[in-house]
Amino acid sequence: MAKKLYVKTFGCQMNVYDSARMADVLAPLGYVGTSEIDQADLVVFNTCHIREKAAEKVYSALGRLRALKRARARGGRPMLLAVAGCVAQAEGAEVAARAPHVDIVVGPQAYHRLPAMVARAHQARGAVVDTALPAESKFDHLPEEAGAHPGRGVSAFLTVQEGCDRFCTFCVVPYTRGAEESRPVAAVEAEARRLVARGAREIVLLGQNVNAYHGAGAAGETDLAGLIGRLAGIEGLRRLRYTTSHPRDMTPTLVRAHGVEPKLMPFLHLPVQSGSDRILAAMNRGHTARDYLRLVESIRAAQPTIALSSDFIVGFPGETEEDFAATLALVRAVGFAQAFSFKYSARPGTPAASSADQVPAEVGAARLSRLQRLLEAQKRRFNARAVGRTVPVLFERRGRRAGWIAGRTPWMQWLHMEGTDAALGSVAEATVVEASTNSLVGVPADRARPGRARPGRARQGGGA
Ligand code: 5AD
Ligand code: SF4
Repeated sequence: MAKKLYVKTFGCQMNVYDSARMADVLAPLGYVGTSEIDQADLVVFNTCHIREKAAEKVYSALGRLRALKRARARGGRPMLLAVAGCVAQAEGAEVAARAPHVDIVVGPQAYHRLPAMVARAHQARGAVVDTALPAESKFDHLPEEAGAHPGRGVSAFLTVQEGCDRFCTFCVVPYTRGAEESRPVAAVEAEARRLVARGAREIVLLGQNVNAYHGAGAAGETDLAGLIGRLAGIEGLRRLRYTTSHPRDMTPTLVRAHGVEPKLMPFLHLPVQSGSDRILAAMNRGHTARDYLRLVESIRAAQPTIALSSDFIVGFPGETEEDFAATLALVRAVGFAQAFSFKYSARPGTPAASSADQVPAEVGAARLSRLQRLLEAQKRRFNARAVGRTVPVLFERRGRRAGWIAGRTPWMQWLHMEGTDAALGSVAEATVVEASTNSLVGVPADRARPGRARPGRARQGGGA
């Protein structure tokens, strides 16, 4: 009988990618995926350590598994529990000390060794721990991707770069993911071709600092713009995106690529974190607010339709009301299509965590809600501007109602429209008839006529 594997992913897109790769590594051992945790013979929690809340979520989820694990052991069908990802990397054996029912602790650079760890865990008394940041690359040891997993559908994730050498003073990534490493162009291209052969029409290139990509190519090192140019040549691939970028690594060639490469979508996630130069310096970001605004200007000059997204941290140690006002001013000056914002969370081992100048939690919370109100309003406005326009949509999945499908506009907006499964995986023109904060409603462009009734209004179920 096949053994069942249940993988739960916390955190970012790279973890979604890694979860799929862990399933690939375990497939030769006879593990097939299940969506029911109580059926699983091996449970993998792929974890996130970026903020305290994310890490705490992992421990509560682990706690909830204790009874199930005990029941399974009593029933003679033991369940193995593995903690992977960034909590595993940051806390190592501590994970098993806090949650003694954990059998395996494996870091994000060591999961190619999972099969051996599983074998050892079956015999071991205590947890098997591997959080080495090995000199060898896991990518040289992973089998080819197999089967369908989240992040591998019409829009597929592909990790091209991992780790970070920037050391922002709030961030755990340089410690949990290790030093910056780029995969060779040929390996990325081969994986992209396999993804497209299996139905991917969009590829999202992933990296903690993806625009620092400098992979080995046929003629020396290739930067991200070069890699994008290479992948754009793949027939059947319609769209390319990349995330996450650092403003300092946004080279003129990459900016230019947005103006000349039609497959490169006009959307850029470019975290700025703060609009205050004092705070940016304390964060070790290596740029000022003005540098960021200039960069945005040059990106918009290259690609006037580009939509921008960002990450913000409020309540960073030492942040005053004036610093925060500078962040609001930057947001107003740029106008974002969407953004993520967080209250600063002191992470063990990072320089900012030991600053004596911590901002009181309630001040951080109040600033966060002010910032989020502004960002939400910008997002609503951005979506509202789409109404009446005809846009190309890559349809990815069935919609929330029978007979509806959902896809993304070039600007990352979800658009819902009447349609059949036959349209999934293709790009179709849709005329936007309705917008809300989080999505759009469209009609097929060839059916859109002024005065035509809006879809869904008279239908059962109602409300898009
Ligand atoms: N506290 C709050 N937010 C953080 N981020 C990273 N580290 C922290 C932290 N210690 C945010 C940054 C980053 C995003 C992925 O998470 O905004 O861009
Ligand atoms: Fe963390 Fe990004 Fe800064 Fe690297 S560039 S340290 S991943 S916030």
